[in-house]
Amino acid sequence: MFAKTLLGASLLASMTILSSAALAQTIGFSQIGSESGWRAAETTLTKQEAEKRGIDLKFSDAQQKQENQIKALRSFIAQGVDAILVAPVVATGWDAVLKEAKEAEIPVVLLDRMVDSDKDLYLTAVGSDLVHEGSVAGKWLVDTVAGKDCNVVELQGTTGSSPAIDRKKGFEQGIAGAANIKIIRSQTGDFTRAKGKEVMESFLKAENGGKNICALYAHNDDMAVGAIQAIKEAGLKPGTDILVVSIDAVPDIFQAMAAGEANATVELTPNMAGPAFDALKAYKDNGTMPPKFIQTESKLYTQKDDPAKEYEARKGLGY
Ligand code: AHR
Repeated sequence: MFAKTLLGASLLASMTILSSAALAQTIGFSQIGSESGWRAAETTLTKQEAEKRGIDLKFSDAQQKQENQIKALRSFIAQGVDAILVAPVVATGWDAVLKEAKEAEIPVVLLDRMVDSDKDLYLTAVGSDLVHEGSVAGKWLVDTVAGKDCNVVELQGTTGSSPAIDRKKGFEQGIAGAANIKIIRSQTGDFTRAKGKEVMESFLKAENGGKNICALYAHNDDMAVGAIQAIKEAGLKPGTDILVVSIDAVPDIFQAMAAGEANATVELTPNMAGPAFDALKAYKDNGTMPPKFIQTESKLYTQKDDPAKEYEARKGLGY
């Protein structure tokens, strides 16, 4: 009797394991690369979120190349994954591969960047309002300089990426109507620290050693951190001689803010995967269609927000 009960219990246990294994989802994730601290944190958090939920995550690093992302998506489709997450490096050129995923009935979720394709070709997109982020940065500058003349240099993100396009547009909207603020130079720094430094050096050289520059607007914190180094090497004080405003809210920018070398940042949460996995689960479980855009918050942080405390809270979170 006891042996029979034991046998029954172990059969039940193995059936439970089998059925949960059968329910386990395999999800492909095509990540852009690791151009910034923010991107590294997004990768870490996506892997952690997948593990928490028992998802088998197939991770592919595209090393900044769209062709690698397209190859990864095709390989996920061939493997018959349950869903695909993609952070698209640029906005155009996705139609064909998204159509292939749709034909294979594999839902695709866009993470943090948008594409120009028809909305029917993906299930949903998780991200921030990128235009709003730029406009928050622009309005901060308008309030901060309070009518004083201010020449701005802009470090753009990767050319053709939705954050580079929208954060530029948003900033211009934010400063529209403030005739005292002018963007005098604008160039891509490709979202990297090294390129941010290099381009800022050329801006400083071209603008009387930086004396003509009142503020730097960088499309991400990493480029701002690189530029801060260039400003210091040019003998100027970042945060004072040249105001610095950027986007992401990574630990290093809070460290720079705590040292008085940066002034403001707009937060972009790196946890895009949590809402994406929730949406996919509801869709798989009972066909619930998520909204086409799941928006994350964009909070402005300034010197008033205790940057040293924000640094402590964020360091060690995968950035
Ligand atoms: O798409 C989001 C942007 O990409 C982040 O602001 C930037 O740091 C990243 O590389």
